[in-house]
Amino acid sequence: MTNRLQGKHVLITGASAGFGEACARAFAAHGAHLELWARRLDRLRQLKTELEGKYAIEIGIQKVDVRKREQVHVAAVALFERDWRVDVLVNNAGLASGLAPIYEGDLDDWDAMIDTNVKGLLFVTREILPSMVARDSGHVINVGSVAGSWIYPKGNVYNATKFAVRALTEAMSVDLFGTRVRVSSVDPGAAETEFSVVRFHGDVERAKKAYEGFQPLSAEDVADAVVYVANTPPDVMVTRLVLTPTAQRSPTMIHRKES
Ligand SMILES: NC(=O)c1ccc[n+]([C@@H]2O[C@H](COP(=O)([O-])OP(=O)(O)OC[C@H]3O[C@@H](n4cnc5c(N)ncnc54)[C@H](OP(=O)(O)O)[C@@H]3O)[C@@H](O)[C@H]2O)c1
Repeated sequence: MTNRLQGKHVLITGASAGFGEACARAFAAHGAHLELWARRLDRLRQLKTELEGKYAIEIGIQKVDVRKREQVHVAAVALFERDWRVDVLVNNAGLASGLAPIYEGDLDDWDAMIDTNVKGLLFVTREILPSMVARDSGHVINVGSVAGSWIYPKGNVYNATKFAVRALTEAMSVDLFGTRVRVSSVDPGAAETEFSVVRFHGDVERAKKAYEGFQPLSAEDVADAVVYVANTPPDVMVTRLVLTPTAQRSPTMIHRKES
């Protein structure tokens, strides 16, 4: 496939782990310059050193908590002060926190999910999108989830945030009608990253059980999908790319082999 990403400028949120980190590696391998945001700056530093050692690209890193409006604003201003244009924005930072029936839900978990997955995505988009509209070019890729199309038991607020991401992807797309700014979503099913460890508040054993008896997606599988979407010709817009493990048909249909 033609590489249209060479020399492009890609901003990835949540680049310190999982899909975001894998996206950084995949875009770097295509020769794209990177701006990486997350809260764990030490991890971003390591990634920057590793990728700059391998590829002739520039990598900016910033400690950004996407829930904090002011931090997002300051980071965006710093980016534009470096004359950075964002060709591709990958809105990836997000999490599930807890897994409980809605009548037992933890309010701090709810805040974390709504503030990160919905408001964080909005804060970042609101800072970056105007420059794309002004240039009449650019691409926003939101990382949604199959959880944004199917409700599953105890998924409640996480589901709601990913339904919101789907609504916002459509909303952005509709509002950008008539421009050459593209909007896509990549909606993965079950993938093994730090996602379940975060969901279960650091309980690694419980997290492992989520992937027992089937082959989940890897972070690289999802990064390949994001890169595919970003690399399509400028007159092609992938609206929504859904990918699941072969063993999965929906959040509640996962074929697990008995061990
Ligand atoms: N894994 C799955 O099964 C799956 C399936 C479908 C969709 N998703 C979605 O995919 C996205 C990435 O998840 P993942 O599986 O890669 O999980 P992950 O391995 O836990 O990585 C999540 C990333 O998001 C960042 N992040 C979390 N909260 C943040 C905040 N407030 N500000 C800035 N960065 C933040 C984390 O960095 P710091 O902690 O360093 O800030 C980390 O880099 C999420 O939106 C998730 O909902 C995951």
